[in-house]
Order: sequence, then C-alpha cells, then structure tokens
Amino acid sequence: MSVFQNLINKNSKIAVIGQGYVGIPLAIEFAKKLPVIGFEINKEKLETLRQGKDPNQEIYDSEFKNLDIEFTDDERKLDEAVFFIVAVPTPIDKHNHPDLSLLKSASETIARHLKKGDYVVYESTVYPGATEDDCVPILERISNLKYKEDFKVGYSPERINPGDKVHTLTNTIKIVSGCDEESLHEISRVYKLVIEADLHLAETIKTAEAAKIIENTQRDVNIGLMNELSIIFGRLGINTYDVLKAAGTKWNFLNFHPGLVGGHCIGVDPYYLAYKAQELKYHPQIINSGRFVNDSMGSYIAKQVVKRMLNNGIKLPGARVIIFGVTFKENVADIRNSKTFDIVNELNEYGITIEITDPFANPDEIKNEYSIQLNKNPLINPRNYQFDAAIISVAHDEYRIYCEDDFKKILQPNALIADIKGIYRKKITGFNYWSL
Ligand SMILES: NC(=O)c1ccc[n+]([C@@H]2O[C@H](COP(=O)([O-])OP(=O)(O)OC[C@H]3O[C@@H](n4cnc5c(N)ncnc54)[C@H](O)[C@@H]3O)[C@@H](O)[C@H]2O)c1
Repeated sequence: MSVFQNLINKNSKIAVIGQGYVGIPLAIEFAKKLPVIGFEINKEKLETLRQGKDPNQEIYDSEFKNLDIEFTDDERKLDEAVFFIVAVPTPIDKHNHPDLSLLKSASETIARHLKKGDYVVYESTVYPGATEDDCVPILERISNLKYKEDFKVGYSPERINPGDKVHTLTNTIKIVSGCDEESLHEISRVYKLVIEADLHLAETIKTAEAAKIIENTQRDVNIGLMNELSIIFGRLGINTYDVLKAAGTKWNFLNFHPGLVGGHCIGVDPYYLAYKAQELKYHPQIINSGRFVNDSMGSYIAKQVVKRMLNNGIKLPGARVIIFGVTFKENVADIRNSKTFDIVNELNEYGITIEITDPFANPDEIKNEYSIQLNKNPLINPRNYQFDAAIISVAHDEYRIYCEDDFKKILQPNALIADIKGIYRKKITGFNYWSL
C-alpha cells in the first residue's frame, strides 16, 4: 500500500519535526485530516502546545481544537510515522556561513526511525543541493537504507509569512519536488490534502531549493537598493518615501521600501546562496551588495540620529532615546536577528541611554537575550522621562495611529523623531523630524 493510502486510512502518521513558525501551521492543517506527531525538542514550547496554544501567537487557540495530534519530544513515537516533514531552523553562524547543525541533527533523529517505504520531505530553507548532498547521506548512513530504493526524499519550501492573515499556508501556491516521478506524485498527493491552492511541481529537488532561496534573495537585493537610494536622497535633502510614491505611479516600478532587514529569512537566505556560489568559485557581487547595504543600516540610522541630536543642541552622554519596535518586522512577536539592536549598540557607544517599547515582543525574551527591560506602553510614562529622541524602527499597526500630541507626552520640545518607515511623514511639525 502506498504511503498516501496508509496515511488516509490512518494506519500510520505524519511527523512534523520542529514546531515553530513553519512546523506548527503545517502540523495543525494535517492534523485536521490525519494522525500527526508534532515533534519538538524545546520543552517550554511543547508545554505551551500541549495546552492548545501557539508559542508564537500566530494561531488562534480555537485552531487547536479537534485535532488528531500528539506534541512530543519522545523519539520512539517516530516509529509510528511514515511521512516525515522537517521544519527546523537553518540559521547562519557568526561568519555568516550556513549552520546546518540543526538540520543534520533532525536528519539523524529521523534516520534512527526510518523504515523501508518511508518519505522524508524537507521544508527548511537551504542552499541548492543541501537536501541530497548533506541530509540524504545522513539518512542512509544511520538507517542502513538505500536512497530511492528503500526510502524517498522531497523538498517543499515554505512561504508562510508571519503576521500575514491573507496569504496563508493553505491558500498559497506551494512548490513540491521529489527525488523521482513516483515520489513527486506521492508527495503531491499528501500535500494536496491540506493545500487548497495549486501545487507547483518543480523539476528537481535542487530546483525547488533554489526557488525558495531566490524569493528571499530578490527581496533582499531590492530592499538593499532602496536603502542605498535613501542614503543618496538623504544627502540630496529629499525624502525617499516621497520619491518612491512618485516613481510608483509607473506601471512597472517595483514596490519596495527602505528599512531594517532582520529576521531569519530575508537577512539570512542570501548568505546560503552566496556560500554555495563561492564554493563553486563564483563570487556573487549583487547578492553580497544587498547584504552589505542592509546589514549596515542600523549603524547608518544611529549615526544620522546622533548627528541630528547634536545639531539640535542635545548633549550626548546622558541623552535618552526611546525606540518604538524591536521585532524584526511589523505586527509579529519574532525578535530573531532584529536589527534594532544594531541601533541600540551604536547609540550606547555615544553614552546614550535607550528605552525600548514593543507591543508584540516578549519582555522576558528581550531581558534574557539583551538584558533590556521592555516598556510595554510608552505613552504611560510613570517615570516622567522626557526623551531626547524617538526612533520608530518598526511600522506596527498600533504605531500608525499615534499623532504628534502622543509624542509630546514623552519627548523634550527639542527632541528628534526618527521615523525609519516614514509613517509620520507630513504629520509631524513641532519636532525635528527625519526619515529614511
Ligand atoms: N518563519 C518563517 O517565516 C519561514 C518562512 C519560510 C521558511 N522558513 C524556514 O523554515 C525553517 C524553520 O523556520 P521557523 O521560523 O519555523 O523556525 P522556528 O525556530 O520557529 O521553529 C523551529 C523549531 O524546530 C525546533 N527544533 C530544532 N531542532 C530540532 C530537532 N532536531 N528536532 C525537533 N525540533 C527541533 C526548535 O526548537 C524550534 O521550535 C527555517 O529553515 C526557515 O528558514 C521560515
């Protein structure tokens, strides 16, 4: 009997390895139809999931009701699975090189429970070739099974966009690939159980891996261009957002904006592609330029803030700055690789005291990782601080409704408002205003 048949007959299970932004929605969708094992090594996350809550606050509690799912860190349960989906992190190390350690360790875990006829589909973002060159040998070595003969492998990149309630897992076209015709067919049938949108069947696993990595690389390079333009326009004394609004009236002008590029996708994936290119003796100029510009923006913004504060007669050691927004993008709780901390670190070097506020970020996480106490509601000002500058680094919806009077409650009259995303453009007249 095929894997698909076994699954829909509920004779065996799907195991989703890694319960995070990608793994949880996948596990939940499958668990509406099939028995699922949500395998996760982080005990704290497991506890939250078992209580029917999403640790990332992306999924409503009601979605956890009536599911056929077991959240576990007990490896032995994986013996019951025939279809494994891997959704563990693929970060970069301190040299910006791919760190495949978690992916390899997840492959080792699966390999210890892999049986003849099983399927393993990778969803983690990787450079082209990683699935078959780095993961399959681990599966073969530990399981003592032969690739393509005893077990099959596929790759299906994830397009989930945290904070986005419009483009969801089920309504977004999903790329799938397999190691041969049979596996492509079988993997497609399994994903079709939960994906309402079309599936795109990629020619090879490498093609599917490359497709994912260029989606984010393209965004990174384009945002890098916008950031570079903002530096040029800053010197010209014109507002980048005004220029983009004007240029955007042309039918084929692309809709990108300047800003901080953090997180674990756009700011990370191009390094995976660059690494692979370099291994093949090609030194990618455009990809690396995007990374260079975007990685420099925190420091650039901090320097602009310092320059403007000094010009406004604000004495720097001892000045106080409040930063609005610390998550890596708007309306999410995720602080991984947040570039706001680049601004914090640079400003600290000038002896400036920083306060951070964010409606989504978890205060304990910020405290543990950066030793900074998060102020949840900045406009309630119990210590009566009058800040010398406000930097709005993330365009959370909640911030869009603030007006000048709100800032008056917490800012000195000669303070600077540095509006990185340009959301208060033309709305601030009483303070020194700057945006990218
Ligand atoms: N978050 C996104 O928006 C997004 C979108 C597309 C692709 N991706 C890619 O998907 C992958 C997962 O990203 P994420 O954001 O879901 O990560 P995440 O950190 O939210 O979740 C991954 C989970 O895997 C767990 N884990 C790590 N090693 C494990 C192991 N050996 N066994 C079981 N669990 C393990 C971690 O504890 C964590 O809870 C990455 O490659 C990422 O680049 C992410």
